[in-house]
Amino acid sequence: MRMSAFFLPTLKETPNEAQIVSHRLMLRAGMIRQTSAGIYAWLPLGLKVLRRIERIVREEQDAAGAQELLMPTIQPAELWKQSGRYDDYGKEMLRIVDRHDREMLYGPTNEEMITDIFRNAVKSYRDLPKSLYHIQWKFRDEIRPRFGVMRGREFLMKDAYSFDLDPAAARRSYQNMFLAYLRTFARLGLKAIPMQADTGPIGGDLSHEFIILAETGESGVFCDRRWLDLDVLRDAPVYGDDLEPFFTQATGIYAATDEKHDPATSPLPADQLVSARGIEVGHIFYFGTKYSKPLGAVVAGANGEPVTVEMGSYGIGVSRLVGAVIEASHDDAGIIWPDSVAPYQVGLVNLKSGDAGTDALCVDLYHKLQAQGTEVLYDDRDERPGAKFADMDLIGVPWQLVVGPRGLKSGVVELKRRGTAEKHELSPESALARLLA
Ligand SMILES: Nc1ncnc2c1ncn2[C@@H]1O[C@H](COP(=O)(O)OP(=O)(O)O)[C@@H](O)[C@H]1O
Ligand SMILES: [Mg+2]
Repeated sequence: MRMSAFFLPTLKETPNEAQIVSHRLMLRAGMIRQTSAGIYAWLPLGLKVLRRIERIVREEQDAAGAQELLMPTIQPAELWKQSGRYDDYGKEMLRIVDRHDREMLYGPTNEEMITDIFRNAVKSYRDLPKSLYHIQWKFRDEIRPRFGVMRGREFLMKDAYSFDLDPAAARRSYQNMFLAYLRTFARLGLKAIPMQADTGPIGGDLSHEFIILAETGESGVFCDRRWLDLDVLRDAPVYGDDLEPFFTQATGIYAATDEKHDPATSPLPADQLVSARGIEVGHIFYFGTKYSKPLGAVVAGANGEPVTVEMGSYGIGVSRLVGAVIEASHDDAGIIWPDSVAPYQVGLVNLKSGDAGTDALCVDLYHKLQAQGTEVLYDDRDERPGAKFADMDLIGVPWQLVVGPRGLKSGVVELKRRGTAEKHELSPESALARLLA
């Protein structure tokens, strides 16, 4: 993408409505714009990052054996009346009446709808287990939307649902997703802490929140320092293995939110206990027959007997993750994207646009990188070098490739790593080789 043509409305001033760094940087970098309280338009740069995160989430769901479908955002109230949640959900649910006076709603989550789809399609134990997921916009009329995409009213969520014949099989599905979550967050460059969570009044007995540490997080957390150093995925089993030993190890390390933390019962010496703030990026539940029972999701068992299926649900805040990644990775100059989610891999900076020599070299590098599948943001604007560097740092592209008239004379370009500010002067060929390695 040539920056001269890019729709990238960056801001020089810090917007004063934004209280936390990720929100400020997303506005300044031209990633999002608010259209109503807690509702955002994703501009081209923001959308690219959102899609990258979505792709990683999807790849890990697929690898874990879940199948993607797509349910609508608008749901009939009827299903929620059957589950009993229509009244319980309260004011967070955006309720709509259509022209025929039918009650509808904008889905805050999809347990009812997926259970309805399942009960109409699956009749035999032979069709189990099944895990289904979608990545779809949700709406929750949050009383206090804040922190940009972190707590929006409309937000993108991946929600998966598992269907099993008995509690032991449901536990395996749960553990499989648990592993998928740890892998997903690791690929996003995040260290997520699985924290045992309440299952609510009717829930089964398993629920974990996945929390990443950040000063601006909404929850206070305490965690065994060992977890932060532990590379738990290094010897992790693969999907479908017996995950019980891995699960026991990963959940055996102390972690609690501040409401539940009790210094007396966590046996940990003070220097081993990390006290920090955290952001919830995912939440998984095993809730047994909470929805399958009222909605009648029943299959015929091996002897023909009716079996009410055991279910779990598994959420990841995809749009929240864009903010969470920034909270975890930025400096005073701007965002530092991990390679896995960066909107572009290389920012090509022409220090003197309009100069025949630098223009020709830049265009050559631009084409060669793109021909090898590297995404390049080429700053070909007629701007001062300082402004170009500031924008590239703000946007956070992992590699900056700088071409100027002085270097050109001695046959070198500069390759700079955004995260470490490490710089190398190289021939254009060597720089290409490094970037394409
Ligand atoms: N208002 C919101 N804005 C952005 N992301 C959200 C919001 N509410 C929930 N999420 C994301 O969706 C995931 C699943 O939501 P869930 O656990 O059902 O919500 P909650 O924790 O608010 O009850 C959360 O872990 C979080 O990452
Ligand atoms: Mg939650």
